Amino acid sequence: MIEFRDVSASYDGELAVLDRVSFTIPNGDFVAFVGTNGAGKSTTMRLINGLLKPTAGDVLIDGVSTANLRTSELAAKVGFLFQNPDRQICCNTVREELMFGFKAQGRECADAEGRVDAMIERFGFDPDAEPFLLNRGTRQLLALASIIVLETPVIVLDEPTTGLDFRECSKVMEIIAGLNVRGTTVIMVCHDMEVTADYAKRVIAMTEGHVVDDGPTFEVLRNPNTLQRAHLLPSQIVDISMRLGDVAPAIASSSIARANSLDQMSTAIYEFISSHAGTGASPALGSDEGLGA
Ligand SMILES: Nc1ncnc2c1ncn2[C@@H]1O[C@H](COP(=O)(O)OP(=O)(O)OP(=O)(O)O)[C@@H](O)[C@H]1O
Ligand SMILES: [Mg+2]
Repeated sequence: MIEFRDVSASYDGELAVLDRVSFTIPNGDFVAFVGTNGAGKSTTMRLINGLLKPTAGDVLIDGVSTANLRTSELAAKVGFLFQNPDRQICCNTVREELMFGFKAQGRECADAEGRVDAMIERFGFDPDAEPFLLNRGTRQLLALASIIVLETPVIVLDEPTTGLDFRECSKVMEIIAGLNVRGTTVIMVCHDMEVTADYAKRVIAMTEGHVVDDGPTFEVLRNPNTLQRAHLLPSQIVDISMRLGDVAPAIASSSIARANSLDQMSTAIYEFISSHAGTGASPALGSDEGLGA
């Protein structure tokens, strides 16, 4: 379990870039941190993996303050994917890169070679390839694989899908979702609301060093107040429901408004449009103004 208790942080010792942030992430959760540039998301990630220490408050991993954990102890609990994969790629071959984490942790792992072989096969890597000659998507996959291979109970991923095309993004997210299904706690920063909506169980929205909302993904991502305060673009389905609500106020009490998940919401939207299509009964549906097409 990861706990932030009134955590403040600063890079220069003066300006607080996080201000009394509190949350608890139980084992097995899948949390996405969202918010504008500079909101403090990466700073929060750095505090979780001990790269940064709080100026006030406490960050606890399984009840122990990061202030009292050695780097190697923290590394055994939390795997960390940097916002830019090139910051963590440092070896001459893919195989060495995948082995690197075991050496950095300074722990003996009897089946390290076997785990690395499994990663090479699973991701389809060329073990002798030079990491820096790989394309951006493959470097991202390599950085992710070099975290997964360590089998830490928690993984922290700072924008794991940035710069990836749709196919690479889906591949990365399916791998991450699979880890979570098998019990890994996943904490990720994500700018893509579709990816967030599709994969995260819970969303923590931040702005200017504060948490502005924290709850089940669908609740946070459909909350207009949160979207506005954290300067977030709604996911497509939520956007359509809001636009429909603007042009047809009756929707405020319809099954679209009462939906409890994105799937329910998209089904309700489909049924609403189907039932009104061609009847002329729904105000402004199909007009440029109404749907903003
Ligand atoms: N190494 C650093 N030294 C000084 N200030 C920093 C450093 N890293 C971040 N900051 C500042 O801390 C604040 C929070 O930055 P942080 O990187 O945590 O934001 P973020 O939410 O991850 O933004 P982004 O979406 O752009 O990655 C910003 O004002 C940023 O300028
Ligand atoms: Mg960041």
